[in-house]
Amino acid sequence: MADKMAGPRLDRRGFMGATTLGTGVALIGLGGTALAQAPATSGQVDFPDDPRAFGGGAPSGRNRTEMSLHDCEVEGDWPVDLDGAFYRVGPDPQYPKQAQYAGDIPFDGEGHVSMFRIANGHVDYRTRYARNARFVAQEQARRSLFGMYRNPSTDDPSVAGLNRGTANTQLFLHHGKLLVFKEDAPPVHMDPLTLETIDPEYTFGGRLESQTHTAHPKIDPATGGLIGFGYEATGFLSRHVNVYEADRNGAIFWSVTVEAPYAGMMHDFCVTQDYIVLYLTNMAADAAQIAAGGVHFRYDSSLPCYLGVMRRGGDGSDLKWFTGPNLFCTHVMGGWNDGTKITVDWDGGEGNQFPFFPSLHEPWDPVKGTGYIRRFTVDFAHSDSFQSETLFPEIQGVLSRQDDRFHTLPYRWGFLQVTGPNGGWAILDHQTGTSKIASVPGYQLSEMTFVPRSPDAPEGDGYLIGLGSSMAEAGRSDLILFDLANIEAGPRARVKMPYRCVGQVHGFWANARDIPGATSA
Ligand SMILES: [Fe+2]
Repeated sequence: MADKMAGPRLDRRGFMGATTLGTGVALIGLGGTALAQAPATSGQVDFPDDPRAFGGGAPSGRNRTEMSLHDCEVEGDWPVDLDGAFYRVGPDPQYPKQAQYAGDIPFDGEGHVSMFRIANGHVDYRTRYARNARFVAQEQARRSLFGMYRNPSTDDPSVAGLNRGTANTQLFLHHGKLLVFKEDAPPVHMDPLTLETIDPEYTFGGRLESQTHTAHPKIDPATGGLIGFGYEATGFLSRHVNVYEADRNGAIFWSVTVEAPYAGMMHDFCVTQDYIVLYLTNMAADAAQIAAGGVHFRYDSSLPCYLGVMRRGGDGSDLKWFTGPNLFCTHVMGGWNDGTKITVDWDGGEGNQFPFFPSLHEPWDPVKGTGYIRRFTVDFAHSDSFQSETLFPEIQGVLSRQDDRFHTLPYRWGFLQVTGPNGGWAILDHQTGTSKIASVPGYQLSEMTFVPRSPDAPEGDGYLIGLGSSMAEAGRSDLILFDLANIEAGPRARVKMPYRCVGQVHGFWANARDIPGATSA
C-alpha cells in the first residue's frame, strides 16, 4: 500500500528491537496522531509498506504464521537434564488497521504465544495466537475491527462492548494453566502444551472481581499462591484497583478493591511476604485524548508518583499512598519487607520511558528515559514518603528480572536487559555490588528469563535463556542459553532456528513437573 506518513512513527523493526532493548527507551519518538494515508480500496489484506505504520514494513516486520517445528537444530552443550518449557508472547498484528488508525502503537497487536518445549537435549517449537473474542471477531470479519490503543470509541460498531484485550504482554503457568495477560483484560487460558485456547476470558471460576488484570502477577514461593491486581478495575477510566490472592490451585481467597489518587498506568507491582506495593507513575489515563480518538495514556510530569502500600490479607483500609522521587519505573526486579521496612527494586528513568505515549509538558527525552536500577525504600509504619537510590550506576537497562523463586523475599541475583550498542544481559550481584554482562556479538537479545539448574537449585544457580536476532541474517533467531556458572565462555548452547521467530514482550520458564501432561520427549 502506498501511503503517506505524517510525522515520526515507530517502525515494526524498531519496536521489536525495543522489546529487545527494553520497553520503550530505545524507541524513536513518534506522535500520537492519526496518519494521512491512502484509503483502503477493498477488503483485501494489505499491510502498509511504510515500516513506521502499525504492522507496516517488510514481511519480517510481522509474523502472523502459527508454526510448529519438531526437533529444532541444537548447537553446543545443551543440558540434557533441563526439562520444561520457555514461553514467550508479544504483539503480532492480525490485520492492518483501518487507514485512519495506521498510526496506532505496536503494543496494540494481537498476542502471539510461542513455546520452546525442552527435554533430553531436544527442543520443539510451537506458536499459536491467543484466540480471544477480539481475535475471533476479526478472523470472522477478515479485517481489523479495533481502532486505537485502549480506545473503544474508535472501534467498529459491530464489536461494541466486546472484550478488547490483546493478550500480548506476559504469560504465567499457574495451577496447571497457561494464562496470557494484557493489563486491560482478564487473562486468556491456553493449553500449556498444545497452545490451544481453552478459555478466552479466564476469571478464576468467576471469582476475579476486576475487569482487568496485570501482566505481572507474582507467585509466592512460600505458598505457591498467585497474587495479582487490576487497575481501572471497576470500569473504563475508573480509579479503582483490585488486588487478589489465589492459592496454589487457583482459588481466590482474598480480594480487595481500593482507590488510586488518579487513573493511570500501573504496569507492575511488588509483593512481599507481608505487603502489597502498588506503583502509580505519571502516565495518566487521558479522557480528553481518548475522546479525540487518541491512545489511552499521556505522560504528565506534573503529577506525583505514588507507592501504595497495604498489608496482605487485610480489608484495604490500611492502604497508604506515599509520594517520592518523580521517577518512571516499569518492572520490578525484586522486593521484600523486614518488619514494616519495605524495599523494592525497579528499573526506571527520570522521565517517560514510553515515547509512543504523548508527553503533556515536554518533548520526549531519551536521556531522562534511560533506565537504571532504582531501590525504593519506605517504612510502612513511620515514613511520610518513599526514598530512592540508584544501584549499579554502571549499568543502563530495562526489563528487570530475578530468579522468580525469590519473589517476595530478600534476594541476591538480579538480571537486566542492557541497552545501548554493547547490549546484553546484565547479571547483578546485590551481595557484592558487582555486575557483569553476557553478550553475543552480532545479535540483538530479547528479554532473558532465569532457569534454575534444577527445580531445587540454590538462588541464581542456573541459566539465562532468551531469543537472539542475528543482525547479519535479517534477524534470524537463535534461542540462546548462558550458563551462569561460566558466562565468560559465551553461550553454552543455542537452538538455531531457520527463520525469524515471532517477537515478544516477556517470557516465562516452567518446569516440566508443573506442566500437566508433560512427558520427556
Ligand atoms: Fe511488562
